[in-house]
This record gives sequence, structure tokens and C-alpha cells, in this order.
Amino acid sequence: MDLLKALKERKSIRAFKPDPIPKERIEEILRLSIQAPSAINLQPWEFIVVTGEEKERLSRRLVKAYKEKQIACSPGNVKPMPKTYGKRGAKTLEMMKPFFEEMKVDIDQYINEGSCNFYGAPAAILLCLDDSFPKARMVDIGLALGYLILAAHEFGLGTCPIGLIVAYEDEIKDLLNIPENKNVVIGVAVGYPDEKSPINRFKSPRDDLSKFIRWVD
Ligand SMILES: Cc1cc2nc3c(=O)[nH]c(=O)nc-3n(C[C@H](O)[C@H](O)[C@H](O)COP(=O)(O)O)c2cc1C
Repeated sequence: MDLLKALKERKSIRAFKPDPIPKERIEEILRLSIQAPSAINLQPWEFIVVTGEEKERLSRRLVKAYKEKQIACSPGNVKPMPKTYGKRGAKTLEMMKPFFEEMKVDIDQYINEGSCNFYGAPAAILLCLDDSFPKARMVDIGLALGYLILAAHEFGLGTCPIGLIVAYEDEIKDLLNIPENKNVVIGVAVGYPDEKSPINRFKSPRDDLSKFIRWVD
């Protein structure tokens, strides 16, 4: 598949078949992910791949933590954000609604518990960063994540980045014995898309490019 097609086609997948992914395939995807550029070629990313019974254990712990603490998916802005952004999020949720109605599930529950459960994907990949790095190195992690989701798509695998789990970082670190000096930046659900699930027919919209660009010439 060519890159342009993958860029246009890729979307977040929120229902997976339980079929395991061969270890070699996951390694292949991560080998492609680490082709991403990084500042001074520091390659600051660290991946924790959680599969099988350990992934189920992680999901159970996160869903339990979610039920106790009720920290849900949110933009996590540090001060009130301009209305434009809120409107985009609201529009996306509104467009998702009919799919959840078809599934007869509660949207908040499906998204929040689903995120904590990596939407039933057989693999959860956590991207970590050493805490000696400044915030700027998050860019490098983001690039690796971008490569990862596109590489997975190329192999017929679906992904969903899961930012919510960072709210439950303490639980994750405890369960997976992640050292104190490592920050969990983001998780990704990886697996074969469940084509029968209505939510996987949903494709999120984008505003027109003119909304994002300012030419200086
Ligand atoms: C940093 C980041 C964090 C995200 N966290 C979550 C999450 O916790 N749960 C979820 O269902 N989707 C999550 N997503 C997926 C976004 O909702 C999704 O990328 C967005 O709606 C655009 O849709 P698309 O990926 O299908 O193009 C996250 C995406 C990014 C980039």
C-alpha cells in the first residue's frame, strides 16, 4: 500500500477481534516505528508490549481504577481552551452517536471503560519516556506513535491511541514494574479490527485546511 493511501485511510479502531498478533509482526511494526526522526537522534522512546493474560490483568486493573476514580477522557487542557477546539470534540462525539445507538451501548461507558480495556485488543503498547527529558521530547514520542499506527495499518492491524490511561499511571507502573524514572506518555491498542462492530465504520471528520494555516510570504 502506498503511504498516501494509508494516511487517508487510517482511523482509530474501537473494537477488536481477540486473535493474537504474532510477536514477529509486533517487532516489525516497532522496527518501523523507530525509523521516526528524533532530536539529536536520541531515540528516547521505550515501548512496553503487553499481551495475553498480562494484558487482561492490566485491563482489569485500569477498568477498576476508572470505576473508583472516574477520571474520564478529556482534553486535559491546563486553562480554558478556545471554543473552536471544544466544538470539534463535541462534533466528533455527535457524529459517533448513531454508531453507539446501533450498538445499544452508553457512549461514555464504551469510550472510558473501552479505553481502559484497550477496546479488547490483544496487544497494548505503552510508549514511555525517561523523566530526565524535557517536555519537548514528547514530540519524538508522538512521531514514533505516528509511525507505529501507520505501520500497523499497512499490516491490516487497527490501532487506537489511548491517552486516558496516563491518568492511571501509578496503577500501570505498579502492575508492570515500571521504574519511577520512566513516564508513561501514551498507550496504543493494537489488533485486528472487528469489522462487524458498527463503531469501526465511523471515520472522524477534519476541518478544512484553511482553518489551520497561515501563510507568511
Ligand atoms: C494523544 C492521543 C490520545 C488519545 N486518547 C484516546 C483515548 O484515551 N481513548 C480513545 O478512544 N481515543 C483516543 N484517541 C483517539 C482520538 O480520539 C482520535 O485520534 C481522534 O478522534 C481522531 O480520529 P481518528 O484517529 O480516527 O482519525 C487519542 C488520540 C491521540 C492522538
